[in-house]
Amino acid sequence: MKILIVGSGGREYAIALALKRDENVKNLYFAPGNGATDELGVNIDIKDFEKLAEFAKKESIDLTIVGPETPLVEGIADVFKKHNLTIFGVSKDAAKLEGSKAFMKDFLFRHNIPTAKYIQTSSVKKANDFIDTLIAPIVVKADGLCAGKGVIIAKSKDEAKDAAKSMLNGESFGNAGKNVVIEEFLDGFELSIFAICDGENYKILPAAQDHKRLLDNDEGPNTGGMGAYAPTPLANDDIYTQVEEFVVKPTLKGMKEEGASYTGVLFIGAMIVDKKVYVLEYNVRFGDPECEVLMPLLKTSASELFYKAATGRLNELDLKFKDEFAVGVVVASKDYPYKNSEPKIIDIDDKKSECSHVAYAGVCKKEGSMYANGGRVLVCVGTGKSIKAARDNAYDLTKKIFFEGAKFRNDIAYQALK
Ligand code: AMP
Ligand code: GLY
Repeated sequence: MKILIVGSGGREYAIALALKRDENVKNLYFAPGNGATDELGVNIDIKDFEKLAEFAKKESIDLTIVGPETPLVEGIADVFKKHNLTIFGVSKDAAKLEGSKAFMKDFLFRHNIPTAKYIQTSSVKKANDFIDTLIAPIVVKADGLCAGKGVIIAKSKDEAKDAAKSMLNGESFGNAGKNVVIEEFLDGFELSIFAICDGENYKILPAAQDHKRLLDNDEGPNTGGMGAYAPTPLANDDIYTQVEEFVVKPTLKGMKEEGASYTGVLFIGAMIVDKKVYVLEYNVRFGDPECEVLMPLLKTSASELFYKAATGRLNELDLKFKDEFAVGVVVASKDYPYKNSEPKIIDIDDKKSECSHVAYAGVCKKEGSMYANGGRVLVCVGTGKSIKAARDNAYDLTKKIFFEGAKFRNDIAYQALK
């Protein structure tokens, strides 16, 4: 098979590593890829979807897999399907589940899927009136895509009103904040649960936990995610059953009824409160760094999983996972998440090991050397028969990575090990 992967992060690198384990995957292409994906395949610099579809046709690409949300929200899957190309990723209509938090919340409400009590509005008065009915903390979210920054957890009603006002007048997030979702604060623990969907059928992956805050003990600002592990023992059979019955099944049915049949990754940001599952948010793609810990656990061939999902045949697949755990520690650059850092040369003593590897993300190549040029530079992934063994393997690998200003959290997977 020839496979094209759209994206440039650690998530896409991890998908590529899983595909590389398949004997039937012959060639990999990345659009645009990063300074390490060129060692796994060929980086292509084509941004326009029509031109990329032409490239896929010319090269007889069998399957395209889309990593990030932006091209999905912009309709890449629709363009590829128009050209009769096989693509794994949701349509533009289905991507609204991530592209608009107001659409997502209204969808959950219409289909009776458990979520925090909310309103969505573009009126400051309506926002304030609803805030007055809630007890602090209060959650205020910009409707549109804000690269993970559009959520404010306000400690008081006044703070919530200020946040809503500055979103609605366009100050904080421009057009993305012209509509807001105000919702009650749910106090529980979070899980990242992924369902691979083919429009009708689905396969649930082992539940993961992300670590959104920059610093140990969940302190500091929110980030894209500083580490993840899977499977988490915090997800028991009852939680998986609730996710299937009350979340995934009604979502696939509802999306089909609404004319936006769901083929792609459904990322359920779940909050568990008193053993009950609530949907905090949907994303229409894999989480990053969750993907980096899930892909190494796949026993089933990754190309078969994504190809069958893209072609509506997931019912034929018996999806299997290794009886192991994976822990991923994100190594970030000095000024992440505040501002871009100067590119720094990376020195890695990355000898191949059975139980650890690097998933490269914000890296580029200059004159044959690899440089850290992004916020989240790479992920050290460890696997093992226990979470502790996997974590030890991941942290052993961090000791072999050197670049100026490199930083990482020291407590990834603490929830499972306390
Ligand atoms: P979101 O982008 O909607 O997932 O929000 C980002 C983060 O804000 C989530 O991962 C949670 O940690 C937090 N959050 C969002 N909504 C709520 C809520 N209703 N209650 C508590 N925490 C929330
Ligand atoms: N790690 C969370 C996300 O990808 O949105």
